[in-house]
Amino acid sequence: MTKVFKIVLFSVLCLCLMLILKIITLKNVNYKRPRFLENKKVLVVYYSNSGHTKKIAENIRNVVGGDIKQIELVEKYPAKRVAMSKIVKQQMKENHLPAIEWLDISDYDVVFVGSPIWNGKISLPTKAFLSTQDFEHKIIVPFFTYSGGAMRGKISDEIYTITKNAKMLRAKFFFGNGICLQKQQIMKWLNELSAEE
Ligand SMILES: Cc1cc2nc3c(=O)[nH]c(=O)nc-3n(C[C@H](O)[C@H](O)[C@H](O)COP(=O)(O)O)c2cc1C
Repeated sequence: MTKVFKIVLFSVLCLCLMLILKIITLKNVNYKRPRFLENKKVLVVYYSNSGHTKKIAENIRNVVGGDIKQIELVEKYPAKRVAMSKIVKQQMKENHLPAIEWLDISDYDVVFVGSPIWNGKISLPTKAFLSTQDFEHKIIVPFFTYSGGAMRGKISDEIYTITKNAKMLRAKFFFGNGICLQKQQIMKWLNELSAEE
């Protein structure tokens, strides 16, 4: 066996071991409803273009209860990724937010807000939603899905800027669609948020 092959084999084994440990840890998550959700009206709002964020949003709602609403565009993006990416790039360049259907969130105390990451930023429909709502006296709990590199700190800063420093808890980033034990990941994150309060 060459030295390079041994190193590759060792790295693969380490990765497998880490994955197994992660799965074991997640399987044993002991979820306790966080205090910040106690006696609160909860809403899960999300934008999803290809379904990943929708799936996570539905699972969050299954864990925390409350209502769920989808951010809908007035004019949908083209179905083909290349054409869509071109429009998104242009809109980002021009600082243009697409028109969205109005969502009434006035009744809720805690709002989970979900978005895919687009070009290292919040998706434009989610940005449009955040920009047009009043989050005074509400808690925002952001979550994102991504498929490559996510610039986590910058995205949370972006939300602070848009929502004018509304109270926001730590965001959770979910990798794409191929996520196993989604519900357990959500429960673990909520347990951590509860401990951070
Ligand atoms: C226009 C566009 C830009 C994207 N940019 C990024 C990116 O910068 N980083 C990343 O990790 N994923 C990026 N993605 C992938 C999406 O964030 C990822 O597939 C996400 O889970 C899609 O969520 P959805 O199915 O709810 O729309 C991009 C996708 C699109 C359509």
